[in-house]
Amino acid sequence: MSVINNQVAVSNLVSMEMLSNEEVLALIKRGSEFKASKVELPDYSSIFTTNLFFENSTRTHKSFEVAERRLGMHVIDFNTDTSSVKKGETLYDTVLTMSALGVEVCVIRHPEVDYYKELIDSSTITASIVNGGDGSGQHPSQCLLDLMTIYEEYGHFDGLKICIAGDLTHSRVAKSNMQILKRLGAEIYFAGPDEWYSEEFEAYGQYKAIDDMIEDLDVLMLLRVQHERHNGSAGFSKEDYHRTFGLTEERYSKLKDSAIIMHPAPVNRDAEIADSLVEAPKARIVAQMENGVYVRMAMLEAIMNGRHLEK
Ligand code: CP
Repeated sequence: MSVINNQVAVSNLVSMEMLSNEEVLALIKRGSEFKASKVELPDYSSIFTTNLFFENSTRTHKSFEVAERRLGMHVIDFNTDTSSVKKGETLYDTVLTMSALGVEVCVIRHPEVDYYKELIDSSTITASIVNGGDGSGQHPSQCLLDLMTIYEEYGHFDGLKICIAGDLTHSRVAKSNMQILKRLGAEIYFAGPDEWYSEEFEAYGQYKAIDDMIEDLDVLMLLRVQHERHNGSAGFSKEDYHRTFGLTEERYSKLKDSAIIMHPAPVNRDAEIADSLVEAPKARIVAQMENGVYVRMAMLEAIMNGRHLEK
């Protein structure tokens, strides 16, 4: 891994832990350059990529596809329902096949935490792996787009008071973000139900009731209640969750004028955030989705730089 002429070069991009602060800042600045159309696009017209999504996704899947197409890459279609996954083919064998076909980049979302380890350790698989989310593990592209959105607003991370609120235990967004934001100098707070808070968060920030900090926050990062990981019941009605832990209109009115609200989406409207606030002036939820394309272009470029260095 390295930064050359402000550009990152990596063989795989599977977690935020593998990136230095310098590399993180270079990636988000490169994302901003792509957004501002300041980049002369390299010729990636001979590159094949594929997006292997074993869990549902709209934003991550489709924005990687837009990023790949904007970079001029060929995107190989893959659908778990119509592929040999239905015949029992494993993830390893699917990626081995793609690699043998000449696919150079596999973006993968999979329910198993750390699914990528056996893929990047393989001496036969030559395709680079980009993690589009591993169970409740990591979500590096979401983290980088979140960082880009905060950086666009404040131009730094040092001393920012950032609250990550909600379904912490199940959230790969919370885990990716808390680690890197602390490293970058932000003050992290956590809020949400006790049941979804655990010791693993203690090293990164303070756990408080949302009402005890709302007026002091620079960034309120709301998390989706991940119903699919709650074995059928999250244990709260939507109304109870919203009233006790969510961003109500009353809480919104207490935020600083300069504060911003983030949410990785999809949003459970009127649970994590009032329906009326999803596109409110302090909300950056749409900006996050837009930034996702540009930061993913930067990630793909970093992979291509890494592959070029290895040749
Ligand atoms: N934020 C996010 O990962 O959304 P998708 O599940 O739609 O990709």
